[in-house]
Amino acid sequence: MNSDYTQIIENAYKFVKPIKNHGKLATYIPELANVNPDKFGVHITKIDGNNFGIGDHLEKFSIQSIAKVLSLSLAVKFLGERIWTRIDVEPSGTKFDSLLLLETYKGIPRNPFINSGAIVICDILITHLENAREEFLEFVRDLSDIPDLNYSDDIADSEKATGYRNVALCNFIKSLGNIKNDPAEVLDFYFDMCSLEMNCEQVSHTFSFLANGGRKLSDGKRIITSSQAKRINALMLTCGFYDESGEFAFKVGLPGKSGVGGGIVALYPNNFTIAVWSPKLNPNGNSFKGMKLLETVTTHSEMSIF
Ligand code: DON
Repeated sequence: MNSDYTQIIENAYKFVKPIKNHGKLATYIPELANVNPDKFGVHITKIDGNNFGIGDHLEKFSIQSIAKVLSLSLAVKFLGERIWTRIDVEPSGTKFDSLLLLETYKGIPRNPFINSGAIVICDILITHLENAREEFLEFVRDLSDIPDLNYSDDIADSEKATGYRNVALCNFIKSLGNIKNDPAEVLDFYFDMCSLEMNCEQVSHTFSFLANGGRKLSDGKRIITSSQAKRINALMLTCGFYDESGEFAFKVGLPGKSGVGGGIVALYPNNFTIAVWSPKLNPNGNSFKGMKLLETVTTHSEMSIF
């Protein structure tokens, strides 16, 4: 992004802020219904180290499915290509919590970002790591440079109490042979993973290794290979927004990932990572204003990968 990136972000924020928000809070996780629906923040981290944020960019929110990119990164780091026998790399064209295609594809989720795929990634991590819950948390603490980052018990418990669809998904995949561990253990880890909280600045910082060829920005440490980073970015572009992935590529033109907490992270390889948060979601479960802001930013900066 050119040198007036702060102006581009500020103008986009001011343009989108007054727009009427047609979205709705994700109330199926009761704890998420308590969030102030008018929050709106954005933060950009450039790989040259510059960064800029505006609005509620320093207020924490539940990152939810955005964490699925981090659990995939950990699985890819330790197991490489072997994971792709358990999950596919195709857009699903279905809602994030759909059971539909599991029957057709014999328990192989279409991609690692729909709930079924992320649940299988949790199962893989439990099998291969000594203590997946702790090791995943350590991995994210390191990436985010937040040493005291923790799972949110309030959010995890809230989802554990009401996550019937995820329970159904996990048991259904188990019945089809693609969950190796106890479904209750897999689900506990999945709900914990989704409960992480960060602000926009922290999310854009945490994900900058994917814009930086697989290396952490703050200390240059290699997290994954540059080829693995490219593949994860490709998956974010094609599958990061469920059945709205095509529209995000069409309107924004960047790899990205959304969460039902109203956060979105998107990145331009070798250039920047941007995180936006606005809790009200469109009918596809993606932040209404977050999508609009990113569309405005890439339209005005002409920074789309296409
Ligand atoms: O499993 C769930 O329903 C949530 N923990 C995560 C869903 C989510 O963030 C989907 N994103 N748009």
